[in-house]
Amino acid sequence: MTAVLGAHLHGGYATATRPMRVVAVDALTAEISHFRFVPADGTPPTPYQPGSHLIVSTGADGVRRNAYSLTGDGLLPTSYDISVLRRGAGGGSDWLHDNVSTGDLVDVEGPRSMFAPVLDQRNALLVAGGIGVTPVLSHARAIARDGGCADVVYSYRPGHAAHLDDLRALARCPGITLHETHRVDATVETLIERLACQPLGTHAYACGPAPLLDAYQALASEAGWPAARVHLERFTAPEPDPGDPFTATVSSTGAKVEVPAGVSLLQALADHGVAVPNLCRQGVCGECRIPVRSGTITHRDFVLTEAERAAGNSMLCCVSRGVDIEVDL
Ligand SMILES: Cc1cc2nc3c(=O)[nH]c(=O)nc-3n(C[C@H](O)[C@H](O)[C@H](O)COP(=O)(O)OP(=O)(O)OC[C@H]3O[C@@H](n4cnc5c(N)ncnc54)[C@H](O)[C@@H]3O)c2cc1C
Ligand code: FES
Repeated sequence: MTAVLGAHLHGGYATATRPMRVVAVDALTAEISHFRFVPADGTPPTPYQPGSHLIVSTGADGVRRNAYSLTGDGLLPTSYDISVLRRGAGGGSDWLHDNVSTGDLVDVEGPRSMFAPVLDQRNALLVAGGIGVTPVLSHARAIARDGGCADVVYSYRPGHAAHLDDLRALARCPGITLHETHRVDATVETLIERLACQPLGTHAYACGPAPLLDAYQALASEAGWPAARVHLERFTAPEPDPGDPFTATVSSTGAKVEVPAGVSLLQALADHGVAVPNLCRQGVCGECRIPVRSGTITHRDFVLTEAERAAGNSMLCCVSRGVDIEVDL
């Protein structure tokens, strides 16, 4: 995933954590609900780039912060709209489903941009799997609004697809084509076909489950797409293995922090009073990136580019590990 545009927000626009009023909750499928928020103080919502997300404080104590992609085109929003998959693991997403209804107040940060369209793209290939449809819908809406061209591939389980009607409606716009797939082999076939026929200047964007994203990246590479034109956003990542123990030195104090196997550097630093901002704790959001002065880093995130990894001067401390690391904190 590459952050390609700056925020470009007017200084007066609000993005800090603030209370928002829930003005609608709609079930889209048995597992996915759509939540509509407006700022509680009556100020208009801040415009955002397609593919942006909100950070919603969840749980009775509001300690957990979950990221959710905005589904609108972002230009002149009258509300903030997100669609949330119930994961069934008792986390923040389940809490939203079970506890939040119309009229409630929720603390929300953002919009934040991590998956923006490239400014000079002439055409877009948009790939969505399951709940990964949310940022893809935002991109598709913005392209349709601007009269641009996009090929959209949506892979879903029949009966479980959120926003299918929205994408079908967009596909009535000239320039927007929708390809619906239901099985893995059909999705792979469609991806091969669509990757092969895009005009020069196309950028590709994908969001969905890990196997879909892995296939998308591999197929794009096989088809000769340069990595700089292949963008993706991961919502979650598998639990990494516990890794080996290592020692990290905090440059400002000289403190030696022991990081046992199965404990993240993020947690070990926090236990020593060094708090690092974090969000996903899975290596997918980039929030916990810290500067590194020396040492050998084992990168285990899904955010840094090959060039950033090779530079060896930063790491995502929620998942990455290393040997004799000196962190510049
Ligand atoms: C950019 C982005 C956009 C996303 N968009 C969507 C979307 O549109 N729709 C959707 O359904 N999902 C979306 N997700 C995924 C979503 O944010 C959650 O990760 C996912 O729903 C899992 O939620 P949960 O309730 O099971 O997880 P939770 O258990 O609530 O955990 C959420 C995250 O917080 C971390 N965490 C765990 N314990 C703590 C703690 N004690 N304190 C603080 N943090 C903790 C976890 O590692 C986890 O990554 C998005 C994720 C990202 C990064
Ligand atoms: S907290 Fe998200 S990448 Fe580390």
